[in-house]
Amino acid sequence: TILYIRPKPNEPPIIPYWIPLIGSAITMGIDPVKFYRENQKKHGNYFTYILLGRRMVTCLGSEGNNFVFNAKLADASAEDAYRSLTVPVFGEGVVYDVENSVLMEQKKFVKSGLSIKNLRAYVPMIQMETDNYLTRWNKKSGIEDVHNAMAELIIMTASRCLLGEEVRSKLDETFAQIFHDLDGGFKPINFLFDNLPIPSNKLRDEAHIKMRKFFMSIMQARREAGITDRTDVMEYLTTQCHYKNGRKLTDVESSHIMIAILMAGQHTSSTTTAWALLFLSEKPELFEKLRQEQIKVLGSLDVPLNYDALKQLTLHENVVREALRLRPPIIQIMRRVKKDLPIPQTNYVIPKDSFIQCVPTISARSEENFENAEEFNPNRWEVFDQQNKERDDDLIDYGFGQLHMASAKSPYLPFGAGRHRCIGEQFAYVQIKTIIATLVRKFDLELLNGKLPMCDFTTMIVQPKDSSLRYKRTNY
Ligand code: HEM
Repeated sequence: TILYIRPKPNEPPIIPYWIPLIGSAITMGIDPVKFYRENQKKHGNYFTYILLGRRMVTCLGSEGNNFVFNAKLADASAEDAYRSLTVPVFGEGVVYDVENSVLMEQKKFVKSGLSIKNLRAYVPMIQMETDNYLTRWNKKSGIEDVHNAMAELIIMTASRCLLGEEVRSKLDETFAQIFHDLDGGFKPINFLFDNLPIPSNKLRDEAHIKMRKFFMSIMQARREAGITDRTDVMEYLTTQCHYKNGRKLTDVESSHIMIAILMAGQHTSSTTTAWALLFLSEKPELFEKLRQEQIKVLGSLDVPLNYDALKQLTLHENVVREALRLRPPIIQIMRRVKKDLPIPQTNYVIPKDSFIQCVPTISARSEENFENAEEFNPNRWEVFDQQNKERDDDLIDYGFGQLHMASAKSPYLPFGAGRHRCIGEQFAYVQIKTIIATLVRKFDLELLNGKLPMCDFTTMIVQPKDSSLRYKRTNY
């Protein structure tokens, strides 16, 4: 029957499914990590599941990661996979609405805007925002939802650093609601269907227009005021950026790029921070170790944090790395294949128009690659770093201001790899480390019933289901 997908010769095995069209959407959606692990056991690193009539070819293990991340432009496209989800939110003329070469230039603009000079300026801003935010935790001990708290805090820190003080100052009024409505359009269903006529998409479209107008009015006001020594990314985009052909970014493009980086950074960073705090609460002795590390580097817990000190806070760094190993916010990386595509070293051929996806969290949580893989153990990274010091991979320049390993065979790739790799990694580390370092100066945290929360896989970014924690003020 036409409702069932007819297997093509040599395609990777299709996971059996009972309901036509829906396919494996339900079993996969409830717990994707379990679904991928079970099917990897049965079928190996390559298999296909059907999601609402689409072939989703899953590519696991380090080989699968490398196959997807390093797919050639002529073979597979990120734009074709992400367009319906992102273009209505970000707007036209940027990211997945342009050719890949233009995206590479746009990424380079943002990457250069996140210079070391600017990152240096962000640390005191983030510390101040965190200190101010935590005045809400004003009892000796109390219960707070740490994921909600981090989402509220990170929109403050990220908007201050990336979008500028004008946006930050409007957070309590107009901006928060616009962001909320726009964010409501960032839903898995919009990955599958173009412009569904649902109420959240209407709100999304109205919010997009409002946000663009808001950003453009700030750009105009800045031009009239003539001040140009700001360290935010908005300033950089509007005053410094030219395409290779000499054309300047228009204010519309700059606004759309700003929406894109806001969306790319907000949930990824806030859930990573929340998970890091949840894992720390599982091993409460680490709070004191983090404080001792700061005392060792800075002399005392009263000394303000700074960029150079942050670099030396290795345990803080490894806490974030380990949280990203166990709970990376993005678990599936998608591309759409443009032609029948053979998988190297196998007899499989992926049919044209299928989606391919890798799931780096599977290799990052496998015993093959990490001993006691399910345990949160930041110290494992000291050993890992020593073992991986010598890397002789060739480096590739995709043109977005960051050199890359020619292969993406590392089992640990929370920021992706290849031409679509994240450009926000350094900013994310600066932001998350500063928040954690500021918080542990004042508080210890405890899990309420001794157990970590489950994952909510229904959102675009994997979030904790209930992240209430008990905070206790320290004696420092
Ligand atoms: C791409 C993860 C924070 C901007 C990516 C990708 C991943 C990722 C996995 C690759 C997507 C793909 O290959 O399809 C993360 C994580 C973050 C984070 C885990 C925080 C913990 C940020 C921040 C920004 C940002 C703060 C902006 C300042 C971008 C951009 C891309 C990207 C522009 C490129 C998309 C492309 O080329 O297709 N990120 N990200 N990210 N990220 Fe991030």
